[in-house]
Amino acid sequence: MPFPYPTRAQVPAVHFQPEYAGSRRYLVDGEIREWGGKAEAVEGVVMLREAEGAAQARHVVGRLPQMDEGAALAALDAAVRAWDRGRGVWPTMSVKERVEATRRFSKAMAEKRAECVRLLMWEIGKNLKDSEKEFDRTVEYIDATVQEVKELDRAGNRFSIDGGVVGMIRRAPLGVTLCLGPFNYPLNETFTTLIPAIVMGNPVVMKLPRYGALCVLPLLEAFRDCFPRGVVNTVSGDGATTAGAIQRTGKVDVLAFIGSCRAADILKHGHPAPHRLRSVMGLSAKNPAFVLPDADLDLAAAEGITGAFSFNGQRCTALKHFLVHRSVAEAFAGRMADAASKLKVGLPWEDGAKITPLPEHGKAEKLAGYVDDAVRHGAKVLNAGGGEREGTWYRPAVVFPVAKAAQLWSVEQFGPVCPISVFDREEELFDYVVDSPYGQQASIFGRDPKKVGALVDVLVNQLCRINLNAQCQRGPDSFPFTGRKDSAEGTLSVTDALRVFSIRSMVATKEGSEQVVSDILTHRASKFLTTDFLF
Ligand code: G3H
Repeated sequence: MPFPYPTRAQVPAVHFQPEYAGSRRYLVDGEIREWGGKAEAVEGVVMLREAEGAAQARHVVGRLPQMDEGAALAALDAAVRAWDRGRGVWPTMSVKERVEATRRFSKAMAEKRAECVRLLMWEIGKNLKDSEKEFDRTVEYIDATVQEVKELDRAGNRFSIDGGVVGMIRRAPLGVTLCLGPFNYPLNETFTTLIPAIVMGNPVVMKLPRYGALCVLPLLEAFRDCFPRGVVNTVSGDGATTAGAIQRTGKVDVLAFIGSCRAADILKHGHPAPHRLRSVMGLSAKNPAFVLPDADLDLAAAEGITGAFSFNGQRCTALKHFLVHRSVAEAFAGRMADAASKLKVGLPWEDGAKITPLPEHGKAEKLAGYVDDAVRHGAKVLNAGGGEREGTWYRPAVVFPVAKAAQLWSVEQFGPVCPISVFDREEELFDYVVDSPYGQQASIFGRDPKKVGALVDVLVNQLCRINLNAQCQRGPDSFPFTGRKDSAEGTLSVTDALRVFSIRSMVATKEGSEQVVSDILTHRASKFLTTDFLF
């Protein structure tokens, strides 16, 4: 089947994304401004033809400001002013008012669903269903965060007494936050750090990713209207020029970053005093699936296909390597190949499209390089047409058996390539995990309680989530999302994120000297030192 290159007329009108008129806009110091400087064409993933039979080209969906150092620092200064050394309007506002503002934002965001979803489809190629899911999950995350903030506030509404000291402990904001999200979940992953940071009282500079930046722009008005000036500021363009310059000032207190380890190191060490920078990071991963001899192979293949290929394998939690016991390796690989060849390759808005075009320039060539290398080391592409590529298209490839010397054994491919290798002894699985620089998750497919239990006991000390007879995944968002080694710093979940972006501060007095505390409470003279139930 040839890859689809529609003409404009063949794209259903409701899904067509013309060049986005608001793409040069950015938000700084409570104003939406139009960028007059250099802008880069945002090439959508979908390649269109002028007419039937004409050559195809990536359809331009916007022009993204390539901000210079000066503009990036202006955004930072706006956040620094909003923080005002902890005396700004937002960090000193009552929790109740911050919650109300965030709720208003969530409502305003929900109204932009169709616009954001369409941009997600065209910019990063996420299929309609998954784009809608990303949007809805983000709104739900905001609402769950608001609920959790209320819980946290209620829990802080009391005094603790120990050793003659009476204290009230609550969580206070940390300061100016730089937030950078990834291209694969530009709304969801970015907002799972952005929203907790904001609601806890921290002003934010949000650096938009290179791909997947436009889908945030329909929300600029909501940010401007719901939060005081300078609380949310956006920056786009080259990371080293913008985020690099921001970090070098030393004015950032918290760094929230989802992306590669390399970029994380550059950003972190760009700060002149890294010891005072708090960081929360979601980084690289290569989650393996271990298929044991007694595994239910149909179940393993069903979970494996979703784990390896949903959103074209472009998830940090994707299953990026399968190690299968020799006794069932051929049978499992065959099932994976069959299932992969049935995945519908289609345009993001088409019903049932599972494999869609890739946003990153040069990605298909890179994947082809990994597959060629594995083939040189003795593997084959098992599914018919696997690895075929053209422009932004790449047909999913199941590669078997991948040798230890091949790049696919260790590289994070982040795309629709599924390496399968063979193991004989369980010891090889431990070695794999221990030797890996990553430490996010793994899946185990098997039934023998003794074998699975023994593996679990070792893997929990190397990884942070072991999925039994199920693919790896981040959600639901109430569960901790974290990793060891090169995979993460800090933990994100609805509850954890609020702790990441705040610190426990305490007001204390000696027993017998509580008069001033009692007077403050009676006169409602403090927003921190209060026993009023706000919710
Ligand atoms: O890229 C990492 C995402 O957070 C994965 O989330 O496992 O829920 O798709 P997910």
